[in-house]
Amino acid sequence: MLSSLSASIFLSLFLARHARASVAFCNDLDYESGALGLSPSQTYNAAPFSPVQINYALAPSDCPANSQVEGYFFYSPQGVVAMPGGGLIMNPNGTMVYFAAGFGQSSMRGLQEYEGADHLAIWVGDGSPVTGGHGSGYNLLLDNTYSVVANVTVTNLGTGADVHELQITPNKTAVMTAYPTQEADLTAFGGPNPGYLLNCAAQEVDITTGEAVFTWQALDHVDPSECFAAIGEAGTGTVDDPWDYFHINSIQKNDDGNYLISSRHCHTLYLVNPDGDIIWRMGGMNSNFTFGPGANYTWQHHARIHNSSTLSVFNNGASEFDQDFPFSQGLLLNYDDSAMTVSLINARSPFDPGDSIVGWGAIPYYSQHDTDGNILWSVQFGLVPDSAYRVFLHDWIARPTTPPSIQVSNTSSSGNVTVYAWWNGATEVTAWQLLGSTADEPMVASPLIVADKLDFETVLTYTGDDEYAYFQVAAMNADGKILGFSDFTSLNGTITFVKADNQTVTAASL
Ligand SMILES: *[C@@H]1O[C@H](CO)[C@@H](O)[C@H](O)[C@H]1NC(C)=O
Ligand SMILES: *[C@@H]1O[C@H](CO)[C@@H](O)[C@H](O)[C@H]1NC(C)=O
Ligand SMILES: *[C@@H]1O[C@H](CO)[C@@H](O)[C@H](O)[C@H]1NC(C)=O
Ligand SMILES: *[C@@H]1O[C@H](CO)[C@@H](O)[C@H](O)[C@H]1NC(C)=O
Ligand SMILES: *[C@@H]1O[C@H](CO)[C@@H](O)[C@H](O)[C@H]1NC(C)=O
Ligand SMILES: *[C@@H]1O[C@H](CO)[C@@H](O)[C@H](O)[C@H]1NC(C)=O
Ligand SMILES: *[C@@H]1O[C@H](CO)[C@@H](O)[C@H](O)[C@H]1NC(C)=O
Ligand SMILES: *[C@@H]1O[C@H](CO)[C@@H](O)[C@H](O)[C@H]1NC(C)=O
Ligand SMILES: *[C@@H]1O[C@H](CO)[C@@H](O)[C@H](O)[C@H]1NC(C)=O
Ligand SMILES: *[C@@H]1O[C@H](CO)[C@@H](O)[C@H](O)[C@H]1NC(C)=O
Repeated sequence: MLSSLSASIFLSLFLARHARASVAFCNDLDYESGALGLSPSQTYNAAPFSPVQINYALAPSDCPANSQVEGYFFYSPQGVVAMPGGGLIMNPNGTMVYFAAGFGQSSMRGLQEYEGADHLAIWVGDGSPVTGGHGSGYNLLLDNTYSVVANVTVTNLGTGADVHELQITPNKTAVMTAYPTQEADLTAFGGPNPGYLLNCAAQEVDITTGEAVFTWQALDHVDPSECFAAIGEAGTGTVDDPWDYFHINSIQKNDDGNYLISSRHCHTLYLVNPDGDIIWRMGGMNSNFTFGPGANYTWQHHARIHNSSTLSVFNNGASEFDQDFPFSQGLLLNYDDSAMTVSLINARSPFDPGDSIVGWGAIPYYSQHDTDGNILWSVQFGLVPDSAYRVFLHDWIARPTTPPSIQVSNTSSSGNVTVYAWWNGATEVTAWQLLGSTADEPMVASPLIVADKLDFETVLTYTGDDEYAYFQVAAMNADGKILGFSDFTSLNGTITFVKADNQTVTAASL
């Protein structure tokens, strides 16, 4: 009795899990132990994507819904096991909204404001976006129809923009990082002569003309003797493995025209004026600031000034280099640039007043913290060494110009027709309508059934009569308004033709 009860509980759990395989797992021990593989992924019946499957390691009470979160997560999981490069937008419950397909190796940078509207920013290039610094490529800005409206990279540096930073300014410029290689005599640092180092660059480019309006290179301003990654620890100094003595990983241009430049390997944030001169150093060997308890950092990332007295930075002081701190954490800091002091406001809750999201970089997790820094939940999207360079949370309303996708199952000897529908990147769709047309009047589509959209791909099963030769789907919003029609597909899947001319829709909430 007891054993059959537990067997049926087990069975129903098992079935429930497979019935909704795309939503997040919650405290899944198989996932956490690696029994599901290093990079568990979602699969669809027809949609050609296999995004990561997430697991709430610290689950919200309504897991997998996680209604504490408003908006979408934007990130690019990277794995050693084949995990296709490419950014994604994901619901808090783990279902996918958008996969940045067709760009090659790319990294999702979240949203940036450009010409008064949010744009999706994607870095495209070669090199590892995570360990790199040696990647070379360009940045694309996509509007809310996923059309590319800008393509910007650095210029006259012998290499392209790398993955670490992109900031679009209100002046239609882009601030970017790059890692040009330069020959140098490295004997003073225990390296070869001739040797090679990465002369990290911060560059601001006019998006319209592609011309640089500001270029700053580390070696002109910062001697390698003030940095902490020795030759051998960050490159051997050869042409194939240049010494990454500085490691630029964030830049922020402020309204006053100054740039905050983060050097991970010098443990320093540099405030630089438009002439390139260093105004002050915060952290590292030659710090102008003194630090209160808990305010210091090493090997840091993603420094952001929020106002004249507050900044945030990710202290990566527990890293592959050193264990300077028991663990790494996001820091919200108070700074006083007259008294030249820095003090801790709190740890792990940076950014705007209110909650914060922390992406853990080389550890495949992101988490949310309250204003006191307490953790609310955490998600894993794989096992170490999977990773994501940065994770962003944004609201986003978007609708592609390309029509929704459809695939008709042709194994319908039962008379039932199964149709798969998806629309990569459309955020407003809440239901799908299936339409059918006959061989005699292919362009005259009759509405057949409606199914709620619960996941990236929706399965529609039509069990009615078999008079229809062609099928299409229509995406509907919460008001039942049709946002887009797919093309038609024949029942046997071999014939497709475009939707009727009169099946147009006007943009609604965009
Ligand atoms: C963007 O510009 C680069 C050159 O910097 C070019 O190679 C690439 O094809 C462009 N990509 C798109 C999508 O326009
Ligand atoms: C925008 O341009 C104005 C005028 O040149 C300048 O004062 C300001 O610092 C610039 N802001 C940014 C963020 O680049
Ligand atoms: C920072 O320190 C340097 C060298 O010690 C000094 O020349 C510079 O004036 C200081 N900057 C500020 C803003 O105090
Ligand atoms: C950080 O500051 C504390 C004092 O608040 C000090 O004990 C510690 O050594 C510092 N850590 C590093 C890595 O500089
Ligand atoms: C800066 O931001 C912090 C945190 O949001 C806030 O407490 C402080 O009042 C702000 N200071 C100024 C000068 O705006
Ligand atoms: C066809 O659909 C009906 C109604 O949903 C269902 O009862 C039947 O099992 C289906 N037939 C097959 C072969 O799947
Ligand atoms: C997942 O979340 C999205 C956004 O809230 C929602 O539309 C969808 O129905 C959810 N899916 C499931 C299976 O709960
Ligand atoms: C597929 O269906 C279409 C429309 O009914 C028909 O014209 C075509 O011959 C079929 N093709 C195959 C290979 O069965
Ligand atoms: C099923 O569809 C595929 C392509 O969508 C086609 O290659 C195949 O011939 C079809 N099979 C039948 C039995 O119609
Ligand atoms: C499009 O035109 C056909 C007749 O050519 C009509 O039957 C159909 O209802 C129209 N569809 C829409 C969406 O207006």
